[in-house]
Amino acid sequence: MTALDRAHNIEDLRRLAKRRLPQAMFDYIDGGAEDEGTMRGNRDAFCEVSLIPRQLVDVSKVDPKTTAFGCDIDLPFMIAPTGMSAMFHPDAERGVARAAGRSGTLYSLSTMGSTSIEDVAASSSGSKAFQIYAFRDRALTSEFIERARSARYDALILTVDVPVAGNRERDLRNGMTLPPALGLMGILDIARHWRWSLDYVRAPRMTLANVAHRIAEANADISTLSGYIANQFSSSMTWDDARSIAEEWGGPLAIKGVLHPDDARRAVDAGASAVVVSNHGGRQLDGAIASMDALPGIVDAIGDRCEVFLDGGIRRGSDIVKAIALGAKACFVGRPYLYGLGAAGEAGVEEALTILASETRRVMALMGATALGDLDRTCLSHRTLAA
Ligand code: FNR
Repeated sequence: MTALDRAHNIEDLRRLAKRRLPQAMFDYIDGGAEDEGTMRGNRDAFCEVSLIPRQLVDVSKVDPKTTAFGCDIDLPFMIAPTGMSAMFHPDAERGVARAAGRSGTLYSLSTMGSTSIEDVAASSSGSKAFQIYAFRDRALTSEFIERARSARYDALILTVDVPVAGNRERDLRNGMTLPPALGLMGILDIARHWRWSLDYVRAPRMTLANVAHRIAEANADISTLSGYIANQFSSSMTWDDARSIAEEWGGPLAIKGVLHPDDARRAVDAGASAVVVSNHGGRQLDGAIASMDALPGIVDAIGDRCEVFLDGGIRRGSDIVKAIALGAKACFVGRPYLYGLGAAGEAGVEEALTILASETRRVMALMGATALGDLDRTCLSHRTLAA
């Protein structure tokens, strides 16, 4: 029996990842901005919503299929874009994309990924989205759009909640730089985590594969993440830029990081076919509203005009069911699959997705819902909804 066989939920995978990864790497996944209040708030918001099950329904067949970005997906959750997966396991983005493809869901590759757009496309035939930021150099954004189109990505995700880097104090404390510049304690910590180190030595792919050429050209300082963001990301992007990106791409486009209903309306007006209600997993603005708390207002504002997705704090199938009952078309998960990747590479990611899928199916059955369409706000009890 492997350690993975003893993982029964996402928290078990988190514990395994914590054991296997050096602290700086684990904290990079696990942490949020400043006091991590928004990160905790994302979880708390799910706890404040209760499910009201319906009984005596034939639930011998439960079907959690849905569509996102025009793709059929077998599960109502997708892989959120996250950077530099090679730091956590050499299976990296390819392993995550393969596991997502086998699980029948969509994989999103981050601009900050350690594997290129083309290599991820070659590694899995599953549905895929490419996530971009607005770069100071607009030509780089255009280059990404063209590469994603040539590599047949199904959708583009434009992340809009990083006009400046969030203040992630765990990373500052740990000296989390690119590549990690570790003091004596950090080196001892890595030596202690010999299994991670062996993997890492075997496949030290910790470059930012998609932007490496531009970093070299610009001789840019990327020694810290916040330094990279300050150097390369645009902090002057506006809705006009979002519209121009939507026009240039011309396909399914999600704007990710929307928390205000008026911004959701502006996203649709700018040409987005989807909005991701997200606070970046609490890694950007600490004190921001929890995604689940922002969801109903945004669904009411634009739910009939575009797809509304949610991420932030999902750790259980019941969280996914609650978000869908509140009006999300589907969800994204970030840390859950990264814990799996850190714990056991591609097999760990697959385990994370299997756990969430089986929890979702079981909760649907216990709710008396045979399809996602059976879930609506009448299935929920919430302090504010009940008022
Ligand atoms: C992220 N996230 C993120 N988002 C994005 O648009 N581009 C990126 O490169 C990253 N990078 C990233 C790295 C790590 C380590 C994490 C944990 C998150 C945010 C991510 O897409 C998603 O919004 C959150 O992870 C959702 O919250 P949960 O599921 O992690 O609670």
